[in-house]
Amino acid sequence: MALVCLTDFQAQARERLSKSSWDFIEGGADDCITRDDNIAAFKKIRLRPRYLRDVSEVDTRTTIQGEEISAPIGISPSGFQCLAWPDGEMSTARAAQAAKVCYITSTYSSCDFEDIVAAAPRGLRWFQLYVQPDQQLNKQLVQRAECLGFKALVITVDTPIPGNRRHDVRNQLDLQKNLMLKDLRLPKERNSIPSLQTSGISKSLCWDDISWFQSITRLPIILKGILTKEDAELAVKHNVHGIIVSNHGGRQLDEVPSTIDALMEVVAAVNGKMEVYLDGGIRTGNDVLKALALGAKCIFLGRPILWGLACKGEDGVREILNILKNEFHASMTLAGCRSIAEISQDLIQFSRL
Ligand SMILES: Cc1cc2nc3c(=O)[nH]c(=O)nc-3n(C[C@H](O)[C@H](O)[C@H](O)COP(=O)(O)O)c2cc1C
Repeated sequence: MALVCLTDFQAQARERLSKSSWDFIEGGADDCITRDDNIAAFKKIRLRPRYLRDVSEVDTRTTIQGEEISAPIGISPSGFQCLAWPDGEMSTARAAQAAKVCYITSTYSSCDFEDIVAAAPRGLRWFQLYVQPDQQLNKQLVQRAECLGFKALVITVDTPIPGNRRHDVRNQLDLQKNLMLKDLRLPKERNSIPSLQTSGISKSLCWDDISWFQSITRLPIILKGILTKEDAELAVKHNVHGIIVSNHGGRQLDEVPSTIDALMEVVAAVNGKMEVYLDGGIRTGNDVLKALALGAKCIFLGRPILWGLACKGEDGVREILNILKNEFHASMTLAGCRSIAEISQDLIQFSRL
């Protein structure tokens, strides 16, 4: 059967993956309330289209952190992509480069960062950091990413501990076995700093650490996982360059708001002082249009990329991106928006929210 929308890939990926890999990808924390809300909340929003506007030319191009992308669609960081396809992240990187979108590469990539960059040398990439307890290791990871040409540092802030994903516990999933990360330490550092495999994620990360990161890199810093106006205001105060409104696809604290519901308060608090992005629950072109109308500069996809990988590797990711880009182009056309600049809050029917 032809795969014509993102959820067609979801159904086929389920057939192709082992139960434990499927559960790992699909899983949310605890009762999966937030994971499911991310999708349901988009479906409550209704659009107000405008007609008679000559939509014979519709341009989906935009910029993020000053770099042009073909559409406001990117790839969220997800670790362990070799669970879905043998050369996981390398396929993802190639597909992102072909589609001219941004690929946020995870700290917990199963491929070596050099190989990911070599697979798609012209692609736009940001590096996602799970802050490690060892500062030397953090410094080395960030500076390595900067040397490799990553264009921004995305610090994930919602993971002081991993969320409680019940299926993974039941399946006794052992991610250490799948990590397969290359050891990025220089030989002389091997005794003095821990490797990623043994280091774990820092529980002590706090606002004061942001200035330390700013002192070790020239890359713009983007915080992933902000959900409230209070934290958005602190992000402005600490001079970061962007926020990804995210609840980790409902995999961390359960029963937090869906991302589309959290977006407006973050956008209002930031008041144009930095770019705001969103991930979580995006499955159609209309979802992209709604997120942009409510103030996101770009959206990012998590699970759909892994479905594409699981079905067809690089071709699957390319198809996922093309389907969503085409749907978004159609949504803009049908709603009367000829350019990204024409997408505004007027498109949203607030009386229903
Ligand atoms: C299998 C899987 C692995 C993930 N790994 C990471 C990661 O390494 N770093 C991170 O910041 N977020 C990670 N996330 C969260 C995603 O970046 C993203 O926030 C989320 O998947 C978006 O929701 P969606 O799946 O509904 O699109 C992961 C998500 C999944 C499903």
